Amino acid sequence: MKLAADEQAMLEGRQGKAKQKAMDLLVRYGEALGAERFVDTNNVCGTVGASTPFLREYGQKHGGLDAVFSEFNLDSAEVVEIPKVAVRSSHLQQGIDPEHAERQGIPVEVVKLHRRGEVYSAGLGIEMLNTCAPYTVGNVPAMGEHCAWMESSAVIYINSVLGARTNAEGRESAGCAMLTGKIPYWGYHLDENRLGTHHVELDIAVENITDWGLLGYYIGEVVQDRIPVISGVRQAPDLPKLKHFGAAAASSGGVEMYHLAGITPEAPTLEAAFGRNKPVMTFRYGKAERRQAYEHANITGRSPNVDFVMLGCPHYTLDQIGEVARLLEGRRVHENSELWIFTPRQTRLLADQKGYSKVIADAGAHLMSDTCSALGRVIPKGTRVAAADSAKQSHYLPAIMGIECWFGSTAECVDAAVTGRWNGGLQ
Ligand code: F3S
Repeated sequence: MKLAADEQAMLEGRQGKAKQKAMDLLVRYGEALGAERFVDTNNVCGTVGASTPFLREYGQKHGGLDAVFSEFNLDSAEVVEIPKVAVRSSHLQQGIDPEHAERQGIPVEVVKLHRRGEVYSAGLGIEMLNTCAPYTVGNVPAMGEHCAWMESSAVIYINSVLGARTNAEGRESAGCAMLTGKIPYWGYHLDENRLGTHHVELDIAVENITDWGLLGYYIGEVVQDRIPVISGVRQAPDLPKLKHFGAAAASSGGVEMYHLAGITPEAPTLEAAFGRNKPVMTFRYGKAERRQAYEHANITGRSPNVDFVMLGCPHYTLDQIGEVARLLEGRRVHENSELWIFTPRQTRLLADQKGYSKVIADAGAHLMSDTCSALGRVIPKGTRVAAADSAKQSHYLPAIMGIECWFGSTAECVDAAVTGRWNGGLQ
């Protein structure tokens, strides 16, 4: 790779050992990808610290959190002192919600270590947003801004809806980008890699969040990791719909970018979305495809006895919490079931002020933050059958936790929590 003067200085160790290790890793990474140079980034979203049992144990054995950062962010067995981050950096979701640790089955000692980890990361200058939806709580990159973000649902959102530019980074590349402000210039950073490859023509109206989730789930299965361009959208979706659509497409396939013709910023027209590309495939999405997506999203659901309902994948917005509060008003979660709702911790504060948290708590449900069931592996003890209003969560809960999971609307999920039974169906 061709290095600029500041990059060369970091690689030679003139800005300290940690930056040297970071630049060394980024050069190896960039060369493996075929990148010719780096691009500056001032917006990194990643994971540091020790939020899993394995990492906590590693840190305890090897002398603390600098050791964890050295080994798992810098690929260095040698422990180096980690300086403050060089650019704006935000933390993604973690493994637990310290405020609900007992309910999540997390021992007190682990909570103490977790809190120490948070102090460490914040001390490095990282914004502890602790969410997979940082764009809902103040980290909203600008159009064309080069970023280095992890987390598939966040990556697809900022590439497609905001027109920012990121590849799906890993813990290592994101950690190194935090220290150097550099990321290889390849993939979605380049204009030519952001053009559409597949054309999806909508034959039906896609209206509510459930429908947008199903559409994303279907498209991801067909296009895998390519770039779909969707035409025929009758009404522009709002943030929660876009959030659910992208998360579903990124989990059934590996979609990191899409265009909605006439809606998303790099697709003012269908032609602009494809640029010089000819679609490699054109397909329609109608009633039959919607049904197929619904059946796939419900493939593991068998028993109607639901003992756990998970809402908030990706992390809920304030309006979504408000909707759940309205659905729960005057009702109670069934004694054989649990309802957990996940949101960024900042949004939880707003939900407290709005009174939503009280309604939710009065109904026996729990508003949580910082983590989620599938990726944090936090579910109520003994859960066998779950329900979720997110195609992503219904995809991952069975795969990661080995349980059944129903997929349906938010109202169906709340009903399942209140009655302990799944009565959902495709409307
Ligand atoms: Fe977020 Fe977990 Fe879903 S990290 S996108 S809530 S699987």
